[in-house]
Amino acid sequence: MGNLIKQIIDDLAKPFLDDLKDLPLWIKWSAIVITCAATIPLALIFRARTAFSDKPRIHFIQNMDNQPKYVSQEVNALFLDGRAMRPRVEGTIARSGMVGDTHYFMGVGDGEWATTYPSFITVDSDLLLRGQGRFNIYCSPCHGAGGFGDGLIHHRANQLVETGVNGTSWVAPKNLHEDAIKAQPVGQLFNTITNGVRTMSGYGSQITTEDRWAIVLYMKALQLSQDADPSMVSNAESLPRKSASEGSSE
Ligand code: HEC
Repeated sequence: MGNLIKQIIDDLAKPFLDDLKDLPLWIKWSAIVITCAATIPLALIFRARTAFSDKPRIHFIQNMDNQPKYVSQEVNALFLDGRAMRPRVEGTIARSGMVGDTHYFMGVGDGEWATTYPSFITVDSDLLLRGQGRFNIYCSPCHGAGGFGDGLIHHRANQLVETGVNGTSWVAPKNLHEDAIKAQPVGQLFNTITNGVRTMSGYGSQITTEDRWAIVLYMKALQLSQDADPSMVSNAESLPRKSASEGSSE
């Protein structure tokens, strides 16, 4: 057995080793140097994985990962006082911290829903038209252009409920001509738009304060439109009548 192994080594390795012996000296030395140098990257990687360093990592592809910026308490020579952290501009109020005029911002006066429009608001036809535009954009999809609670979203949601689309449930938007809503003070309507009510979400972050008041005005106009007294309109006699005294509906 031992002989067999020796035989195999002699047959296979001998010619190879003999060849090596014949190689020029410079090739042998180059091979030794290259082999040793090849271990250097491995050694560096091993060191990088175990040693600690206070330098940032080597980061070849930056991808905007590092950008110049000021962090807390740093010095910034741009300002006279040298502080990068700027004090608040005097009078600044956090978005959620607004108290100020509760009538204008919250629709509340003396702890009750305001029944009048705030003094910043000029109630005129411009505001009414603005309110109509905003209502048609933000409210009509659910409440319908006439405010009867029959917007397209309502119809579509009903369809989904009827066809049993998984998990659809729907609370109908209110008919804004209901007596209970007609009786609500403007401040309460303003609050409903701002903060939402039950399943309806609020629009305070999407619609400006003045526009919310404009929508309130338009809602009031919509409600009035459904049961206005002819005497409120000038030259009412010339208008088509529904009343019995005229005897016809057109
Ligand atoms: C995504 C649909 C949707 C939109 C858009 C919507 N509402 Fe509503 N609204 C509802 C629903 C639903 C209710 C009834 C909520 C409930 O009873 O849970 C409701 C209720 C109301 C009420 C009755 C509040 C009360 O006291 O009962 C008012 C007033 C109202 N909405 C005004 C508006 C106005 C004004 C807008 C536009 C700024 C608007 N809504 C936009 C769905 C909507």
